[in-house]
Amino acid sequence: MNSSKISIQDYSLRYADGVQALKHINLEIHPNAINVLFGPAGGGKSSLLRSLNRLIDLADADEVEGKILFNGVNILDKETDVTWLRRKIGMVFSRPIPLPKSIYDNVAFGLEVAGMKDTATMRKTVEQALRQAYLWEEVYDRLDDPGISLSGGQQQRLCLARILALEPEVIMLDEPTSALDPVTTARIESFLEEIKEHVTVIIAPHNMSQSARVADHAAFFLQGELVEVGESSSLFLNPKEKRTQDYVEGRFG
Ligand SMILES: Nc1ncnc2c1ncn2[C@@H]1O[C@H](COP(=O)(O)OP(=O)(O)O)[C@@H](O)[C@H]1O
Ligand SMILES: [Mg+2]
Repeated sequence: MNSSKISIQDYSLRYADGVQALKHINLEIHPNAINVLFGPAGGGKSSLLRSLNRLIDLADADEVEGKILFNGVNILDKETDVTWLRRKIGMVFSRPIPLPKSIYDNVAFGLEVAGMKDTATMRKTVEQALRQAYLWEEVYDRLDDPGISLSGGQQQRLCLARILALEPEVIMLDEPTSALDPVTTARIESFLEEIKEHVTVIIAPHNMSQSARVADHAAFFLQGELVEVGESSSLFLNPKEKRTQDYVEGRFG
């Protein structure tokens, strides 16, 4: 179906210690849009993101039910090529850690692994990815410095560039700006607005105001349940469910 990039169908996840992190989730991820997962801590947002690129090792989960379809492939199938999947669906964490390599190599490494050999193409691709992540202007004259010599916000954008270089179809960001200052946060938010033309974005913001600012579509998670889903205009202004209303209006969480 063309109107959905990823189709989550009756997905449930229980961890080995018995925690039921997600309960019968049905959710369509819209292409070329910013899809927001929001709600209080413990709702299952990170668990869902980690499921989408199989960072949850299926062997560690006690019980996994349902389907997650991406380009016609069930992500949850044991046969699914996880390396392919993680290139197509990239993930950025709240405190991403650069590889112990130079700034340049942090971005080039994934391209090398993916089989790129031509140095000129590599340079061009690295530059383009660093520009897309709004980092080029700050690092172009120190590409050989270690990635970890950058500030927190720059490291965040370096990791973003590393993922963008691989031309993913989907990027997922889990609380990407929770450790960043307002200026860098605003940059990353405007960057997401731009790239959604080419890439599907799924983000679990660390607060309600970012959720409302960036979302095209939003889904409210509470204790493993998907309470309500909709276009951001209606969901944040006119929630149907009492529980969504209480959260959006700041009565808990
Ligand atoms: N690796 C894990 N093993 C066991 N329980 C986990 C694990 N990761 C998360 N949980 C539990 O699953 C529930 C959902 O957590 P999480 O997906 O992190 O929610 P959110 O991102 O919305 O805060 C919580 O009760 C959490 O304690
Ligand atoms: Mg989380």
